[in-house]
Amino acid sequence: MIETYVQNLKKAFGNFHPTVLIILGSGLGSLTEKIENKIVVSYNQIGFPPIHIAGHRAELVAGVLSGREVLCMSGRYHLYEGHPATFVKDMMSAYQKFGIKEVIATNAAGSLRAGMKPGSLMMITDHINFSGQNPLIGVNNDLDGPRFPDMSSAYDPVLQQKMRETAIENSIELHEGTYFFVVGPNYETKAEVKAFRTLGADAVGMSTVPEVISAVYFGMKVVGLSVITNQSADLQEGPLNHEETLFEARQGAVDLQGLILKYLEK
Ligand code: HPA
Repeated sequence: MIETYVQNLKKAFGNFHPTVLIILGSGLGSLTEKIENKIVVSYNQIGFPPIHIAGHRAELVAGVLSGREVLCMSGRYHLYEGHPATFVKDMMSAYQKFGIKEVIATNAAGSLRAGMKPGSLMMITDHINFSGQNPLIGVNNDLDGPRFPDMSSAYDPVLQQKMRETAIENSIELHEGTYFFVVGPNYETKAEVKAFRTLGADAVGMSTVPEVISAVYFGMKVVGLSVITNQSADLQEGPLNHEETLFEARQGAVDLQGLILKYLEK
Protein backbone atom coordinates (compact mmCIF):
# COMPACT_ATOMS: atom_id res chain seq x y z
CA MET A 1 0.00 0.00 0.00
CA ILE A 2 2.75 2.42 0.96
CA GLU A 3 4.49 1.93 -2.40
CA THR A 4 1.20 2.72 -4.16
CA TYR A 5 0.83 5.93 -2.16
CA VAL A 6 4.40 6.93 -3.05
CA GLN A 7 3.92 6.20 -6.76
CA ASN A 8 0.66 8.17 -6.76
CA LEU A 9 2.34 11.12 -5.00
CA LYS A 10 5.12 11.11 -7.60
CA LYS A 11 2.61 10.86 -10.44
CA ALA A 12 0.48 13.69 -9.05
CA PHE A 13 3.26 16.09 -8.09
CA GLY A 14 6.00 15.05 -10.53
CA ASN A 15 7.54 18.50 -10.94
CA PHE A 16 7.56 19.32 -7.25
CA HIS A 17 10.08 18.01 -4.76
CA PRO A 18 8.88 19.46 -1.43
CA THR A 19 10.82 18.69 1.72
CA VAL A 20 8.31 20.39 4.04
CA LEU A 21 4.88 18.96 4.88
CA ILE A 22 2.30 21.23 6.49
CA ILE A 23 -0.62 19.46 8.18
CA LEU A 24 -3.55 21.84 8.56
CA GLY A 25 -5.91 21.48 11.52
CA SER A 26 -9.65 22.14 11.82
CA GLY A 27 -10.63 25.48 10.30
CA LEU A 28 -7.02 26.23 9.32
CA GLY A 29 -7.25 25.25 5.65
CA SER A 30 -7.08 28.81 4.31
CA LEU A 31 -3.28 28.71 4.25
CA THR A 32 -3.54 26.79 0.97
CA GLU A 33 -4.90 29.97 -0.66
CA LYS A 34 -1.43 31.49 -0.28
CA ILE A 35 0.29 28.65 -2.13
CA GLU A 36 1.53 29.63 -5.59
CA ASN A 37 1.78 27.48 -8.73
CA LYS A 38 -0.23 24.89 -6.90
CA ILE A 39 -1.36 21.43 -7.85
CA VAL A 40 -4.38 20.19 -5.90
CA VAL A 41 -4.99 16.47 -5.66
CA SER A 42 -7.76 14.69 -3.76
CA TYR A 43 -6.77 12.13 -1.12
CA ASN A 44 -8.78 9.68 -3.17
CA GLN A 45 -6.31 10.02 -6.07
CA ILE A 46 -3.46 9.05 -3.75
CA GLY A 47 -5.42 6.08 -2.44
CA PHE A 48 -6.13 7.64 0.97
CA PRO A 49 -9.57 7.04 2.55
CA PRO A 50 -12.33 9.72 2.62
CA ILE A 51 -12.85 12.23 5.45
CA HIS A 52 -16.22 13.28 6.87
CA ILE A 53 -15.72 16.25 9.23
CA ALA A 54 -16.88 19.86 8.79
CA GLY A 55 -13.93 22.22 8.39
CA HIS A 56 -11.77 19.56 6.77
CA ARG A 57 -11.28 19.11 3.05
CA ALA A 58 -9.56 16.01 1.73
CA GLU A 59 -6.85 17.41 -0.50
CA LEU A 60 -3.13 17.53 -0.86
CA VAL A 61 -1.80 20.81 -2.20
CA ALA A 62 1.74 21.12 -3.50
CA GLY A 63 3.26 24.42 -4.55
CA VAL A 64 5.40 27.32 -3.46
CA LEU A 65 4.96 29.14 -0.15
CA SER A 66 7.38 31.91 0.84
CA GLY A 67 9.66 30.78 -1.97
CA ARG A 68 9.82 27.16 -0.77
CA GLU A 69 8.22 24.07 -2.19
CA VAL A 70 5.72 22.65 0.28
CA LEU A 71 3.21 19.85 0.47
CA CYS A 72 0.10 20.72 2.43
CA MET A 73 -2.51 18.38 3.88
CA SER A 74 -5.88 20.10 3.89
CA GLY A 75 -7.91 17.65 5.92
CA ARG A 76 -6.63 15.19 8.46
CA TYR A 77 -7.27 11.66 9.62
CA HIS A 78 -8.64 11.55 13.15
CA LEU A 79 -8.76 8.35 15.17
CA TYR A 80 -12.28 9.29 16.33
CA GLU A 81 -13.53 8.73 12.77
CA GLY A 82 -12.37 5.16 13.03
CA HIS A 83 -9.22 5.55 10.95
CA PRO A 84 -6.67 3.12 12.34
CA ALA A 85 -3.56 4.70 13.81
CA THR A 86 -1.54 2.39 11.56
CA PHE A 87 -2.96 4.17 8.50
CA VAL A 88 -1.42 7.39 9.82
CA LYS A 89 1.90 5.57 10.09
CA ASP A 90 1.65 4.31 6.49
CA MET A 91 0.71 7.76 5.24
CA MET A 92 3.65 9.38 7.02
CA SER A 93 5.93 6.67 5.64
CA ALA A 94 4.76 7.54 2.13
CA TYR A 95 5.50 11.24 2.68
CA GLN A 96 8.97 10.40 3.95
CA LYS A 97 9.68 8.23 0.92
CA PHE A 98 8.35 11.05 -1.27
CA GLY A 99 11.09 13.30 0.15
CA ILE A 100 9.57 15.05 3.18
CA LYS A 101 12.11 15.88 5.88
CA GLU A 102 10.26 18.42 8.01
CA VAL A 103 6.67 18.44 9.27
CA ILE A 104 4.81 21.53 10.45
CA ALA A 105 1.87 20.02 12.36
CA THR A 106 -0.99 22.38 13.22
CA ASN A 107 -4.20 21.82 15.10
CA ALA A 108 -7.11 23.41 16.90
CA ALA A 109 -6.91 22.87 20.65
CA GLY A 110 -8.62 23.76 23.90
CA SER A 111 -6.68 25.81 26.45
CA LEU A 112 -6.19 24.54 29.98
CA ARG A 113 -4.64 27.85 31.06
CA ALA A 114 -6.77 30.85 31.99
CA GLY A 115 -4.16 33.16 30.43
CA MET A 116 -4.15 31.42 27.05
CA LYS A 117 -7.26 32.76 25.32
CA PRO A 118 -9.23 31.60 22.24
CA GLY A 119 -7.63 32.92 19.06
CA SER A 120 -4.10 32.72 20.47
CA LEU A 121 -1.25 30.48 19.30
CA MET A 122 0.75 27.90 21.21
CA MET A 123 3.91 26.20 20.03
CA ILE A 124 3.84 22.55 21.11
CA THR A 125 7.03 21.85 23.04
CA ASP A 126 6.00 18.36 24.15
CA HIS A 127 2.99 16.07 24.25
CA ILE A 128 1.27 13.50 26.42
CA ASN A 129 -0.24 10.57 24.54
CA PHE A 130 -3.28 9.72 26.66
CA SER A 131 -5.11 7.89 23.89
CA GLY A 132 -4.11 4.33 24.63
CA GLN A 133 -3.36 4.10 20.91
CA ASN A 134 -0.14 4.26 18.99
CA PRO A 135 0.54 4.22 15.23
CA LEU A 136 3.64 2.07 15.79
CA ILE A 137 1.78 -0.90 17.30
CA GLY A 138 2.47 -3.96 15.18
CA VAL A 139 5.43 -5.83 13.81
CA ASN A 140 8.38 -3.47 13.47
CA ASN A 141 10.41 -3.14 10.30
CA ASP A 142 13.87 -2.19 11.54
CA LEU A 143 14.62 -0.59 8.15
CA ASP A 144 11.90 1.99 8.87
CA GLY A 145 12.87 2.86 12.43
CA PRO A 146 13.66 1.42 15.84
CA ARG A 147 11.24 -0.80 17.76
CA PHE A 148 11.44 1.54 20.75
CA PRO A 149 11.92 5.02 19.29
CA ASP A 150 13.12 7.89 21.45
CA MET A 151 10.51 10.62 22.00
CA SER A 152 12.48 12.83 24.37
CA SER A 153 12.89 15.51 21.65
CA ALA A 154 9.83 14.77 19.53
CA TYR A 155 9.50 18.47 18.75
CA ASP A 156 12.84 19.43 17.27
CA PRO A 157 14.66 21.93 19.54
CA VAL A 158 16.32 23.72 16.60
CA LEU A 159 13.03 24.16 14.75
CA GLN A 160 11.37 25.29 17.98
CA GLN A 161 14.00 27.98 18.36
CA LYS A 162 13.53 29.07 14.76
CA MET A 163 9.75 29.30 15.34
CA ARG A 164 10.26 31.23 18.59
CA GLU A 165 12.56 33.73 16.88
CA THR A 166 10.17 34.09 13.94
CA ALA A 167 7.35 34.95 16.33
CA ILE A 168 9.43 37.52 18.22
CA GLU A 169 10.76 39.16 15.05
CA ASN A 170 7.24 39.54 13.69
CA SER A 171 5.55 40.55 16.97
CA ILE A 172 3.29 37.50 16.97
CA GLU A 173 2.40 36.32 20.46
CA LEU A 174 3.33 32.65 20.75
CA HIS A 175 2.61 30.70 23.91
CA GLU A 176 4.46 27.45 24.51
CA GLY A 177 3.24 24.30 26.17
CA THR A 178 2.45 20.62 26.36
CA TYR A 179 -0.30 19.21 24.14
CA PHE A 180 -2.47 16.52 25.65
CA PHE A 181 -3.83 14.01 23.13
CA VAL A 182 -7.22 12.41 23.68
CA VAL A 183 -9.04 10.28 21.11
CA GLY A 184 -12.36 12.18 21.40
CA PRO A 185 -14.82 12.74 19.85
CA ASN A 186 -16.49 14.12 22.97
CA TYR A 187 -15.11 17.25 24.55
CA GLU A 188 -13.73 16.71 28.04
CA THR A 189 -15.59 16.66 31.32
CA LYS A 190 -14.58 19.22 33.92
CA ALA A 191 -12.94 16.51 36.00
CA GLU A 192 -10.93 15.36 32.98
CA VAL A 193 -9.51 18.78 32.18
CA LYS A 194 -8.59 19.31 35.82
CA ALA A 195 -6.81 15.97 35.79
CA PHE A 196 -4.99 16.75 32.52
CA ARG A 197 -3.82 20.09 33.91
CA THR A 198 -2.51 18.32 37.00
CA LEU A 199 -0.63 15.93 34.72
CA GLY A 200 1.22 18.84 33.13
CA ALA A 201 -0.86 19.69 30.07
CA ASP A 202 -1.42 23.20 28.72
CA ALA A 203 -3.73 22.40 25.81
CA VAL A 204 -5.90 19.45 24.82
CA GLY A 205 -6.90 18.13 21.43
CA MET A 206 -7.85 15.11 19.35
CA SER A 207 -5.11 15.02 16.72
CA THR A 208 -1.46 15.54 15.80
CA VAL A 209 0.20 13.03 18.13
CA PRO A 210 -0.20 10.01 15.79
CA GLU A 211 1.39 12.01 12.96
CA VAL A 212 4.18 13.29 15.22
CA ILE A 213 5.06 9.87 16.63
CA SER A 214 5.16 8.47 13.08
CA ALA A 215 7.21 11.38 11.75
CA VAL A 216 9.80 11.02 14.51
CA TYR A 217 9.93 7.27 13.93
CA PHE A 218 10.65 7.76 10.22
CA GLY A 219 13.34 10.34 10.98
CA MET A 220 11.49 13.49 10.01
CA LYS A 221 11.81 16.65 12.10
CA VAL A 222 8.66 18.14 13.63
CA VAL A 223 7.50 21.53 14.76
CA GLY A 224 3.97 21.82 16.20
CA LEU A 225 1.52 24.71 16.49
CA SER A 226 -1.89 24.84 18.17
CA VAL A 227 -4.51 27.46 17.50
CA ILE A 228 -6.43 27.86 20.74
CA THR A 229 -10.13 27.75 19.91
CA ASN A 230 -11.70 27.55 23.36
CA GLN A 231 -11.05 27.41 27.05
CA SER A 232 -11.45 24.02 28.71
CA ALA A 233 -14.83 23.11 30.21
CA ASP A 234 -13.93 24.26 33.72
CA LEU A 235 -12.69 27.67 32.54
CA GLN A 236 -15.54 28.64 30.25
CA GLU A 237 -19.24 29.13 30.76
CA GLY A 238 -21.67 26.99 28.82
CA PRO A 239 -21.18 24.01 26.56
CA LEU A 240 -18.47 23.61 23.91
CA ASN A 241 -19.37 23.10 20.27
CA HIS A 242 -17.58 22.48 16.98
CA GLU A 243 -19.02 25.60 15.27
CA GLU A 244 -17.47 27.85 17.91
CA THR A 245 -14.21 25.93 17.57
CA LEU A 246 -14.20 26.53 13.80
CA PHE A 247 -15.05 30.23 14.26
CA GLU A 248 -12.16 30.84 16.67
CA ALA A 249 -9.86 28.71 14.52
CA ARG A 250 -10.47 31.06 11.59
CA GLN A 251 -9.50 34.04 13.77
CA GLY A 252 -6.32 32.36 14.99
CA ALA A 253 -5.61 31.06 11.48
CA VAL A 254 -4.68 34.59 10.34
CA ASP A 255 -1.83 34.76 12.87
CA LEU A 256 -0.90 31.16 12.19
CA GLN A 257 -0.62 31.88 8.47
CA GLY A 258 1.60 34.88 9.10
CA LEU A 259 3.82 32.89 11.42
CA ILE A 260 4.21 29.95 9.02
CA LEU A 261 4.90 32.22 6.03
CA LYS A 262 7.65 34.05 7.94
CA TYR A 263 9.03 30.78 9.39
CA LEU A 264 9.41 29.34 5.88
CA GLU A 265 11.19 32.49 4.73
CA LYS A 266 13.69 32.36 7.58
N1 HPA B 1 -10.82 19.49 23.57
C1 HPA B 1 -10.41 18.59 22.66
N2 HPA B 1 -10.19 18.89 21.39
C2 HPA B 1 -10.35 20.16 21.01
C3 HPA B 1 -10.76 21.14 21.89
C4 HPA B 1 -11.02 20.79 23.25
O1 HPA B 1 -11.39 21.62 24.10
N3 HPA B 1 -10.82 22.31 21.19
C5 HPA B 1 -10.44 22.01 19.91
N4 HPA B 1 -10.15 20.72 19.80
